[in-house]
Amino acid sequence: MEFTASSANLLNIKADSLILATGSQLQNSAADLDKSLDGAISSLIKAGDFGGKSGETLVIHIPGAAGKRIILLGTEGASTPQKQINVINAGANALLKTPSSKAVWVGEGLSDDSEWEASIVARSIKAASYKYAPQPKMVKKSKPAKLKTLCYWASSKANANAAKKGLTYGASVGNGMNVARQLGNLPANICTPSYLANQAKALAKGQKNLTTTVLSEADMKKLKMGSLLSVSAGSDQPAKLIILKYQGTKAAVKPTVLVGKAVTFDTGGISLKGGNGMDEMKYDMCGGASVMGVMNGLIENQLPVNVVGIIPATENMPNGQATKPGDVVTSMSGQTIEILNTDAEGRLILCDALTYAERFKPAAVVDIATLTGAVIGALGKVAAGVLSNDDGLAEQLLASGTQSGDRAWRLPLWEEYDQLLKSNFADMANIGGPQAGTITAACFLARFTKKYKWAHLDVAGTAWISGPQKGATGRPVPMLMEYLRSTAS
Ligand code: BES
Ligand code: MN
Ligand code: ZN
Repeated sequence: MEFTASSANLLNIKADSLILATGSQLQNSAADLDKSLDGAISSLIKAGDFGGKSGETLVIHIPGAAGKRIILLGTEGASTPQKQINVINAGANALLKTPSSKAVWVGEGLSDDSEWEASIVARSIKAASYKYAPQPKMVKKSKPAKLKTLCYWASSKANANAAKKGLTYGASVGNGMNVARQLGNLPANICTPSYLANQAKALAKGQKNLTTTVLSEADMKKLKMGSLLSVSAGSDQPAKLIILKYQGTKAAVKPTVLVGKAVTFDTGGISLKGGNGMDEMKYDMCGGASVMGVMNGLIENQLPVNVVGIIPATENMPNGQATKPGDVVTSMSGQTIEILNTDAEGRLILCDALTYAERFKPAAVVDIATLTGAVIGALGKVAAGVLSNDDGLAEQLLASGTQSGDRAWRLPLWEEYDQLLKSNFADMANIGGPQAGTITAACFLARFTKKYKWAHLDVAGTAWISGPQKGATGRPVPMLMEYLRSTAS
């Protein structure tokens, strides 16, 4: 699959499909094209076949040119980046339903920012071509069945050059999303902590600026990660702490550290979950998977940033060695934790990983976790929750989410919430009671992130979808890539 950009005369570009984003009033390139086709498009609009409404699609065949098609893609009302992305997704899906092998996307139909628009086109086509691969292998690049080339057409040479950059970037985001989706969708009997560790090693293999280190339980014991190890205690699968280091710029530039929760299956432990829908707890490693996806995106696009990924990976199981409610453990930070509920395990593995992050002297730390069911109550499946000890960092992440159509919304970290974590037997309890569950979870993490700028993304609502379309979404890879790109000097 190759992406190219061109500003040559549209009618001279050889292709078997042309995607034309337009409203019901044909303008610019759409009007020119209609003229060259003797009004074929405008007559269909007049007849009511195509209304130009946002996301509407109509495939038409050009008379006399067998196998040539135009996919009309409605744009009316697509006034925000999010709506424009939805339109592009609809166009990508319509294109991939056809047997097209060489397509031209007539650009600038939605936005005059060719770089941005082209990046979303490439990402959407990559994402639309993802297929779950049941074999235990990570898809590094998922190949669409038929589409070989997509040429993004822009109205000027300058715009085509900008689009070229956008295509490369967008394709790397799409591939990164697909890596995260594939890891998320794999069942927990294949995707174990050891499997994730091996995939992280495979990702770094042959890469000159990505290295993977995997710490064993013995290593973690030496580091005094008593909180993380209290979660893996109940499982026969050994926990792994996976560290990925990407160096895209001078070593002196402080890294952004991404910490991704990877509970490869969350039964709840001794505080066992109910059976309904428990299979979806294989997705409890999607935070870690998003870090892998971002790393894949970084090596592909060679962004000039330094990033460290830390993935604490474990199962949460209830065997005879399992941690019991009321047990008190000592975290790597020295703070003690009374574990009142073993199902609040994400924060227990993250806190030690966040303490470990200090050694990288980070510019900022962002953790990504399917942490609380409560965030679904607050924000549904639309936005991720953002909680941060730094207003600037929170703003940057929110803006990156808007720009990439991978949105988030901020919740507060006030001390009134933090007080709910009081324990009579340790420095803190691991749960804060029934109210404001997303916030109290983040307040717990905030006690381990005082030494640097930090933000927490609760992606329990956005990392996968349930129901007949069940599957991992690849979020928040687009937001994180956009954020990292914005930090590049
Ligand atoms: N992995 C879950 C969070 C989750 C639940 C994500 C449902 C998506 C759907 C997490 O480990 C968990 O169990 N959280 C508990 C916390 C509670 C015990 C304080 C929850 O949200 O119920
Ligand atoms: Mn849990
Ligand atoms: Zn969990």
